[in-house]
Amino acid sequence: MRWDSSQPAPVSNLTSSPPKNSTSPTTTRLYTKMSSSTESSALFTPLQVGRLTLSHRIVLAPLSRSRATKDHVHTKLAVDYYAQRSSFPGSLLITEATVIHPEAGAYLHAPYIYTDAQVQAWKKVCPVSIRW
Ligand SMILES: Cc1cc2nc3c(=O)[nH]c(=O)nc-3n(C[C@H](O)[C@H](O)[C@H](O)COP(=O)(O)O)c2cc1C
Repeated sequence: MRWDSSQPAPVSNLTSSPPKNSTSPTTTRLYTKMSSSTESSALFTPLQVGRLTLSHRIVLAPLSRSRATKDHVHTKLAVDYYAQRSSFPGSLLITEATVIHPEAGAYLHAPYIYTDAQVQAWKKVCPVSIRW
């Protein structure tokens, strides 16, 4: 059956059971059940990356969102954005570019990481994404 991304996944394809290798807390989430042909695809098999065991091989590429404040501090938008994209256990995300020194870049509303406020904001983003 072809996937029609304009339509929501059928309810019959949703389960509250986490994937087999999940170590995620038992919060109630809905996972999409995969068809047997999708499940057997190499794309959806685990992959060891250093000390991390990924549950599949789809990785979020770094994508500048330009959603930080004018002082380059992440907001709750970023916390929600990364939480949503890391909600499937065993997913690997690479966060967007950051800037480590005032002279190192000039990107409007990019999240920088050299003032205390910027560092504290990144600390709110990272824990929501780490679910190993
Ligand atoms: C809107 C947008 C924002 C991006 N932001 C970043 C970024 O912050 N850091 C980075 O290293 N790459 C960034 N990239 C590059 C993407 O990660 C890259 O396009 C992706 O890995 C796919 O690679 P390709 O463009 O060579 O196919 C961005 C790309 C786009 C389209």
